[in-house]
Amino acid sequence: MVDRNGWDRDGTAPTGTTHDPPASFVEQANVSDPGIYEAFEADWPSCWTRAADLLSWDEPYDTVLEDADAPFYRWFPDGRLNAAYNCLDRHLESGRKNHAAIRWEGKQGERRTYTYRDLYVEVNEFAAALRDLGVEEDDVVTIYLPMIPELPIAMLACARIGAPHSVVFAGLSADALATRMDAADSEFLVTCDGYYRRGDAFNQKSKADNARLALEQDVRTVVVDRLGDDLPHVLGDDEYDYHELRDAFAGATVEPVSRDAEDMLFLMYTSGTTGEPKGVVHSTGGYLAHVAWTSHAVLDVKPADTYWCAADIGWITGHSYIVYGPLALGTTTVMYEGTPDYPDRDRLWEIVDRNAVDVFYTAPTAIRAFMKWGEEYPTEHDLSSLRLLGSVGEPISPRPWNWYRDHVGGGDCPVVDTWWQTETGAVTISTLPGVDEMKPGSAGPPLPGIDANVVDEAGDPVEPGRTGYLTIDRPWPGMAQTLYDNDERFVTEYWQRFSDPAADDWRYFSGDTARIDEDGYITVLGRVDDVINVSGHRLGTMEVESAITDVDGVAEAAVVGRSSPAGDTEIYAYVSTESGREPGDRIREAIRENVAAAIGPIASPTELVFTPELPKTRSGKIMRRLLEDVANGESLGDTSALRNPEIVGEIQAEVGDES
Ligand code: PRX
Repeated sequence: MVDRNGWDRDGTAPTGTTHDPPASFVEQANVSDPGIYEAFEADWPSCWTRAADLLSWDEPYDTVLEDADAPFYRWFPDGRLNAAYNCLDRHLESGRKNHAAIRWEGKQGERRTYTYRDLYVEVNEFAAALRDLGVEEDDVVTIYLPMIPELPIAMLACARIGAPHSVVFAGLSADALATRMDAADSEFLVTCDGYYRRGDAFNQKSKADNARLALEQDVRTVVVDRLGDDLPHVLGDDEYDYHELRDAFAGATVEPVSRDAEDMLFLMYTSGTTGEPKGVVHSTGGYLAHVAWTSHAVLDVKPADTYWCAADIGWITGHSYIVYGPLALGTTTVMYEGTPDYPDRDRLWEIVDRNAVDVFYTAPTAIRAFMKWGEEYPTEHDLSSLRLLGSVGEPISPRPWNWYRDHVGGGDCPVVDTWWQTETGAVTISTLPGVDEMKPGSAGPPLPGIDANVVDEAGDPVEPGRTGYLTIDRPWPGMAQTLYDNDERFVTEYWQRFSDPAADDWRYFSGDTARIDEDGYITVLGRVDDVINVSGHRLGTMEVESAITDVDGVAEAAVVGRSSPAGDTEIYAYVSTESGREPGDRIREAIRENVAAAIGPIASPTELVFTPELPKTRSGKIMRRLLEDVANGESLGDTSALRNPEIVGEIQAEVGDES
């Protein structure tokens, strides 16, 4: 019997479902030697100098890893460097000053290109301005900006003067901003007057104002004028206009501050849909080495490329793979403001076409939307420049994986399904596109040097094909150093469960469940908190969802657990269909059959509710918790974090009809 990933029950992948990287890709790949896995093992942890060697160090390190105070590991601890120097100055020094660093595509059709020289000039000017405002080394600067070039500029300006940044996703509320600034004791804020959402001016400054009102500390605030005359703003006390500051510091240069490798580069609060937001702290040296290395080895980025990660810089993907990784390697990184369907559903393909993008990296939620809209949108454009595609953020099941490869990648682009987290800093599980065969639906083996495992409750490795917990049993350079101001929670959240401190045996627990096949390929199933226990069977909601979305005509699905009056957990599925596909008994039947075939009849949803859309957070994550409350007939909490709150009432009505 074969499951949704094309594996049979003993965990072996049958032939016919895998793809080798094309020879033309392997020939030019940054990493193409299959011996790399063994080479890393034979020389661990010194192997990580390969990553560190991609950087320029002010002070070379002697020690690669110091583990005396595990799980507070220290990478390259006696080395010194500056992240902005690595992303800017050194490319000027190597004669690349006129090479495009950032190509920005604005929401209103605006375009701006910054060469490395342009970026260097603006970062220096803003660094000088920040210093003049009183920002000192180690002060946390909060940045609350949409996808405009001033966002990476502000990040790099902070990095230049050794001030850690805390970027808060622009779509989050005033309360969320205030909570984060309060938690980080941040006294500096960079924001803007507003931004455009589907053509309408949207006020960002009023959210920033409300956050400041809620804070005890005084906050010096820099405001970028994004809207021109569309939204006049008056600056109050402690507020400064970004463009005036730049004029005041025109031509200023600031010596990059040499930082200890273990000094904090930034903190990033995780999305916070559950519990208190966690301030994940990242280092300067280990983090930058790991993002540069994975940009090189996994995303195959080359300086001459035009590379595009279509994420938001407000989350970790954008930090690592729009800003730090690509700029450290001196490539051209594209950033875009807006949504993939405005002004039309071909927006992304138009950008790929016009910029001749070589490498494209996005999330499964976007890929499923493209699939739903239909292949005519990518087909309208010349996408032949694409050499490699990437996916990140959620499991991607074989159907959208293949659709992505066929309709965006022209049938011959390798696809890397990269697993990682805010806490891992950079990719930790993925195929190497110039080395490994691809198995749609499986992220791949742990990267060289990464010791990821799938274990049972006792921490022992599970048999191939069985579900277990995803752990990482050795440290890695991009790992979080701690949670801001909360070492204790860092240990309890991530290390306690599978470590044995008495034996000095430390294992990181990712919070995800996964399976591993006989070739060591890992399929990540979903968060542990999304696991449903049905009659003693442990099922990943995402696993069931994947089986549903693999059905022809299905666009997206969310599965939650519902408690029956008898106390059993039943599976409740919310499903949206592709445009033009009527929900109905045929599709309902096909879903039940596919779920039964992929996982077993036990996973077949007790209830199936069709809805035009699923409720999502502004960062695109499906709000399963809310759907769980709807299924269980519980009162709903705050829905203000949703991108589409209006859908909730419709779903409630539908659920009411069903039950
Ligand atoms: O559940 C995993 C899922 O996203 C979680 C991390 O979310 P976040 O910290 O927001 O970072 C997202 C971008 C790195 C993981 O615990 N996840 C991420 N990538 C994958 C994935 N699940 C399956 N496959 C992936 N490739």
